Amino acid sequence: MGNKIIRGLVFILAISIAGYAIVQYGFLNASNAGLVSFKLQKPNFELQPWIYVLYTHIFTAIFALIIGPFQLFIKPTNGRKRWHRLMGYGYVLSITVSGIVNVYLSIFATGGWISSLGFMSLDVLWVATTFMATRKILVKDIQAHKVWMLRSYALTFSAVTLRILLAPLIFLLGDFEAAFRAVAWLCWIPNLIVIEVVISRMRLRRQQGFTTATPK
Ligand code: HEM
Repeated sequence: MGNKIIRGLVFILAISIAGYAIVQYGFLNASNAGLVSFKLQKPNFELQPWIYVLYTHIFTAIFALIIGPFQLFIKPTNGRKRWHRLMGYGYVLSITVSGIVNVYLSIFATGGWISSLGFMSLDVLWVATTFMATRKILVKDIQAHKVWMLRSYALTFSAVTLRILLAPLIFLLGDFEAAFRAVAWLCWIPNLIVIEVVISRMRLRRQQGFTTATPK
């Protein structure tokens, strides 16, 4: 698949999932969302304050999901540098806030401790990769900044992977909670593997570029 098609697909999928979250939680009744209505069936589940924490998570995470492709795919040329920096700070801020509230959401995740551990690991890596990317740009290491941002966005994209995989997993395992335990891990581990392959290909291409450009 060509680069342009992959980028277009990433963009469309990110916008679609963000759109789902905005419509479901912003315009429709949150209690009717699949996950929330499932949780409400549990006798010991308290909707408040959980739902407010979820709103904070969704509001901040959506920003990261939408802004990511623009930051990664549009080259920050001179005229766009200020915009890139501003949106970059927004991306980091939204992940920092979401990263904090995610700890609470992870503890109460559907599927018990296996899901909690999956989401908590994702959360720690999400914040860590984003902070690494920020540190790299602060010391003007552009190449390393790009690599860490690719890792960060691969983890942001878990929001998309989760919603693609959940239905087939429910079908395969025949149980919503079992599917949720699996998806808490499967929504991000494959993303990290794919992005590491992309990064090593980029490195290889750069090295090949250097060798062909070096005079004999
Ligand atoms: C990458 C780090 C992320 C982590 C660790 C994370 C974690 C969680 C957790 C633990 C829940 C509650 C699950 C439960 O109670 O069973 C949740 C729900 C949710 N998250 Fe995230 N999330 C992340 C990224 C995102 C992003 C980028 C979005 C952007 C749209 C998002 C949108 C949602 C939505 C809409 C829900 C409600 C469930 C639904 O209706 O599908 N999350 N998340």
